[in-house]
Amino acid sequence: MAENPCLPKLARIVDIVEMTPIEKLFRLEFVDEEDAKAFNFKPGQFVEVSVFGVGEAPISICKSPTRPGPLEILVRRVGRVTNALHRLKPGDLVGLRGPYGNGFPMERMKGFDILLVAGGLGMAPLRSVLQYAIDRRDEYGEAILLYGVRSYQEALFKERVIELIEKPEAARFKTFLAYERDDPVFDKLREKHPENVRKGVVTVLFECADPYIKPEKMCAVICGPPIMYRFVLKELVKRNFKPDRIYMTLERRMKCGIGKCGHCVVGGATSIKYVCKDGPVFTYSDVLSTRGLV
Ligand SMILES: Cc1cc2nc3c(=O)[nH]c(=O)nc-3n(C[C@H](O)[C@H](O)[C@H](O)COP(=O)(O)OP(=O)(O)OC[C@H]3O[C@@H](n4cnc5c(N)ncnc54)[C@H](O)[C@@H]3O)c2cc1C
Ligand code: FES
Repeated sequence: MAENPCLPKLARIVDIVEMTPIEKLFRLEFVDEEDAKAFNFKPGQFVEVSVFGVGEAPISICKSPTRPGPLEILVRRVGRVTNALHRLKPGDLVGLRGPYGNGFPMERMKGFDILLVAGGLGMAPLRSVLQYAIDRRDEYGEAILLYGVRSYQEALFKERVIELIEKPEAARFKTFLAYERDDPVFDKLREKHPENVRKGVVTVLFECADPYIKPEKMCAVICGPPIMYRFVLKELVKRNFKPDRIYMTLERRMKCGIGKCGHCVVGGATSIKYVCKDGPVFTYSDVLSTRGLV
């Protein structure tokens, strides 16, 4: 009999890093070596993580497959499952199903410059693309990161982001940061690097990055809160990015994660999409042809 695809594999939490007051980075290792060997993922894919006795939640994989070591996921606590995850300790066990979803088309992006636009927690799946593009630098052109956060306290991987701005020669790509609330660390960084750091929402960074944005040889990759997409898409369309070279990863309420339950279906008569199976990565062309995707 075929194995039940919804049966989770056991994984152990090997490390937990507190990133912000509401977000933690979990490092996980499969208990069974065979499960670890069979787990091959792409940037932009997600896993269903279960806390036993509580439930499961879809969470993006937050590292690149080019990096060895434990699987990394970054979890914001918002409800039942994510709060239960935050209560776990190193050594505790969780269930993992996946990897699921289409992921970013890293093959199709080869040879192009990559513009990454991340808002808040959107940094989690985009970190995977960024690491991948850095590790396979010869296969891609220039990489540019526009990262928007509300405050210093809420910024993810902030030490690394600051380092990338302070030492651009070591970074091999250009980093721009926008923040909304006054903060001594970010204010000082802005004074030192006014060309890279701005007050405001992520879209204010387009102006700083414009000299490096080359839509004719560039793919854009976006992830952030739902409100962000409309404004970022407007900036990209204004700069004549081709709709099928704008990729974005979207979230919907999910159950099965594998196209069986219908929870994540969007669209109408002309185009129906399962966000879990056809996505979570979609192009702007998909958005234009599918009602309710963004
Ligand atoms: C493909 C995909 C990738 C994701 N990646 C990440 C990630 O990397 N890190 C991360 O922290 N979260 C991620 N999420 C969101 C995460 O799945 C939800 O926050 C989680 O399922 C909430 O479960 P819960 O039981 O803790 O909350 P619940 O108790 O179910 O809900 C708590 C509150 O959050 C709201 N809520 C729950 N899920 C969603 C959702 N998907 N969209 C909007 N509102 C929601 C509910 O309406 C409610 O108000 C991802 C979601 C998807 C679909
Ligand atoms: S989550 Fe079940 S069909 Fe997408």
